[in-house]
Amino acid sequence: MTHEIAVIPGDGIGQEVTPAAVDVLEALEIDFEFVEADAGDAVAEATGEALPQETYDLAASADATLFGAAGDTAADVILPLRTAVDSFVNVRPATAYPGIDAVRPETDLVFLRENTEGVYAGHENRLHQDVSTLTRVVTESASERLADFACDYVAGDEHDGFTIVHKANVMRETDGLFRDTVRDVADERDVETDEVLMDAFATRVCLDPEQFDVVVCPNLAGDVLSDLAAGLVGGLGLLPSANIGPERALFEPVHGTAPDIAGEGVANPAATIISAAMLLEYLGYDEASDDVHEAVEATLEDGPRTPDLGGDAATEDVTRAVIDRL
Ligand code: NAI
Ligand code: MG
Repeated sequence: MTHEIAVIPGDGIGQEVTPAAVDVLEALEIDFEFVEADAGDAVAEATGEALPQETYDLAASADATLFGAAGDTAADVILPLRTAVDSFVNVRPATAYPGIDAVRPETDLVFLRENTEGVYAGHENRLHQDVSTLTRVVTESASERLADFACDYVAGDEHDGFTIVHKANVMRETDGLFRDTVRDVADERDVETDEVLMDAFATRVCLDPEQFDVVVCPNLAGDVLSDLAAGLVGGLGLLPSANIGPERALFEPVHGTAPDIAGEGVANPAATIISAAMLLEYLGYDEASDDVHEAVEATLEDGPRTPDLGGDAATEDVTRAVIDRL
């Protein structure tokens, strides 16, 4: 069966790293049909719309989407795109690779971040000159859906349950509901959990990341803490992510458009290529996914490397090296 893959490079280095990941997918000779579409600052300037309807429709119908990054219009692009695939969980692995100069080389974490609500639900108001308010939304149904996904994720031998990160001691109603719901689902399914307050987690993960494995958290906490973990493993150029929905999914590097290096051809394609490996796994190509992961790991270890990792290679050189290893 042919899978349709939507490819949305966006702006800045999105235009460089997304084609690199597509080159890797093409090298696998799987029956994919790639359909490219526009989103971001450039198309907004040309048409007034950062996310054209046809791009939204493509993401909402393709089997999977590979997205690069958008600039100033990022929120206008990525939030609706996540809605297009009805994504309820953002999967963000933070793994330190051998040979990379990481703050904490022993880090090997996966964040499962709630992807639809919390403070990002979009209920913000400027009441008057002096006061703005924000309504934080937490539902039992979204928390349950995330918990079910987390339980499936840790099934098997590799993981001993997961850690729930929250701030229910202060946000008793919202994070209280989140924590209780996630814990109840896990208890019912015989999955082990422990819990850590999000501020304490920030300290503990820096001091000793090995005490954590799979981390389940609300939207904002997941956004911030996974970027913190990016710092532990050697930078944004290495972090992939997956936005998973019930029927389709969207894969993207955690980083943005990197305006400081855009156009120079030196962006690190690793995060996007690893995102593509997650796409392969999602579509059931487990072996191809493992192959891509291994090829990226070997390339990170032995080079060539882009300047963000201390090398002097171009995006193209790294991509070629990954493809050669496949
Ligand atoms: P950024 O991730 O674009 O860049 C931060 C730093 O990391 C820069 O020094 C950059 O050169 C470096 N970097 C990031 N990815 C890299 C890669 N693949 N290879 C080598 N170096 C890399 O974050 P920043 O500077 O905060 O945002 C720049 C623009 O990107 C903004 O307009 C922002 O709105 C947008 N953005 C978009 C996102 C998205 O579309 N999902 C996510 C984050 C930011
Ligand atoms: Mg972020």
